[in-house]
Amino acid sequence: MILCFTGWVIALLKLLHVERHFFPPKSIYLVEHFLSTSSYVRNRYSYLRNQFQYEINCSSIYEQDPQEIGKSLEIRRKDIIDLDDEDITAMTNDCDMYRKLRKYHLKPVSPEEESFPIAYSFVVHKDAVMVERLIHSLYSHQNVYCIHYDQKAAKSFKSAMNNLAKCFPNIFIASKLEMVNYAHISRLQADLNCLSDLMDSAVPWKYVINLCGQDFPLRSNFQLVAELKKLGGGNMLETVKPSSSKRERFTYHHELMKVPYEYMQMPVKTNVSKNPPPHNIEVFVGSAYFVLSRAFVQYTLSSSLAKDFFDWSRDTYSPDEHFWATLVRVPGVPGELSRSAQDITDLQSKTRLVKWNYLEDHLYPPCTGTHLRSVCIYGAAELRWLMNYGHWFANKFDSKVDPVLVKCLAEKLSEQQKEWVYLSSDKHFLRISPANASL
Ligand SMILES: *[C@@H]1O[C@H](CO)[C@@H](O)[C@H](O)[C@H]1NC(C)=O
Ligand SMILES: *[C@@H]1O[C@H](CO)[C@@H](O)[C@H](O)[C@H]1NC(C)=O
Repeated sequence: MILCFTGWVIALLKLLHVERHFFPPKSIYLVEHFLSTSSYVRNRYSYLRNQFQYEINCSSIYEQDPQEIGKSLEIRRKDIIDLDDEDITAMTNDCDMYRKLRKYHLKPVSPEEESFPIAYSFVVHKDAVMVERLIHSLYSHQNVYCIHYDQKAAKSFKSAMNNLAKCFPNIFIASKLEMVNYAHISRLQADLNCLSDLMDSAVPWKYVINLCGQDFPLRSNFQLVAELKKLGGGNMLETVKPSSSKRERFTYHHELMKVPYEYMQMPVKTNVSKNPPPHNIEVFVGSAYFVLSRAFVQYTLSSSLAKDFFDWSRDTYSPDEHFWATLVRVPGVPGELSRSAQDITDLQSKTRLVKWNYLEDHLYPPCTGTHLRSVCIYGAAELRWLMNYGHWFANKFDSKVDPVLVKCLAEKLSEQQKEWVYLSSDKHFLRISPANASL
């Protein structure tokens, strides 16, 4: 009877949302406090609405102020709750409301940017909120964005992406979706599907950049346009002569197999040798990430050499890491890089900044976040280093590892965009484009 009564009291207290006074939950940090306590999302933490919130000063984070960095470390010890895929779906159900909530109409844009559209190819498979942040950070109305999601992705992720895409005329889902396997040709095919769709888009984009869900920009759109103009029609990507171990990736036939102790399929080396590549192509290696000119993409999609090389690459390991690196060296391609020209390493090509744990302390300061398979997931104390290194994008970011870094990087980029657009306009006022203002 007493037990029963106690149970009833607890139920009543829960109903009145007072249980937190008696049973404080494990300390929670809401990455998107306003949204998570609002009715715009599915998982509502409305009882936390008036809870203490950290005020983070991103300028102080950038300056590596010990007190502010200390706050970010405190936050990392909490139970970090970010929006999940269903939240993103709910938030993007009503497009007008979503665009207003995320202030898309306040993104300033200069005439220089408007006449220099950029295309993006996103190959993603999980964590809708990080993709939403990435797109939000890069969004400008004259650009065009293709999202390729893995056919194997969770239903909730797919509906979040579909919803997000339908809110903008210049964001779309790839017309053909692959089942993407690690290090397999399907990864490369996914980008090619987007490139082909982007080529068909009415947007006269000048350059295309591919990104994955854990990437984030280190430059605002204004700065990216200025940097892309400096390429003068050339491409930017890593392309180096292969080491003997890398060479095995394409001198032996590989077969897609279930890997023991891993849940996934990936190409496994066999003892069957491959023929050399067609058309006397000399193979170079690099990364899957590129900055390519429109003329080069046009060439890749239409040339029989590129098609033959793609077919030859089907049974190689991680063809995305040699396909582009090789094609830019083919004599006669738009923006050709001579085969005899020096290697372009991942430090020279500014496409992607990745911190490998075995190079920390030699090439760069140690990771202040955490590691995932020897790659750093950045922490707040690296904000300044990231923004000053010189690269345009970096990998990896995860709001569950350090929400402060992601928030502050986005905030800093948006500030820089405003400043640059302001400084570049003769009349020194923010130009809000009519197309954006009408959203
Ligand atoms: C953030 O800190 C800087 C000093 O690092 C200070 O100048 C600025 O006023 C602070 N901003 C806010 C909103 O408190
Ligand atoms: C290749 O491997 C298979 C088994 O995996 C073996 O039976 C065959 O003898 C090998 N061939 C050569 C040329 O080593």
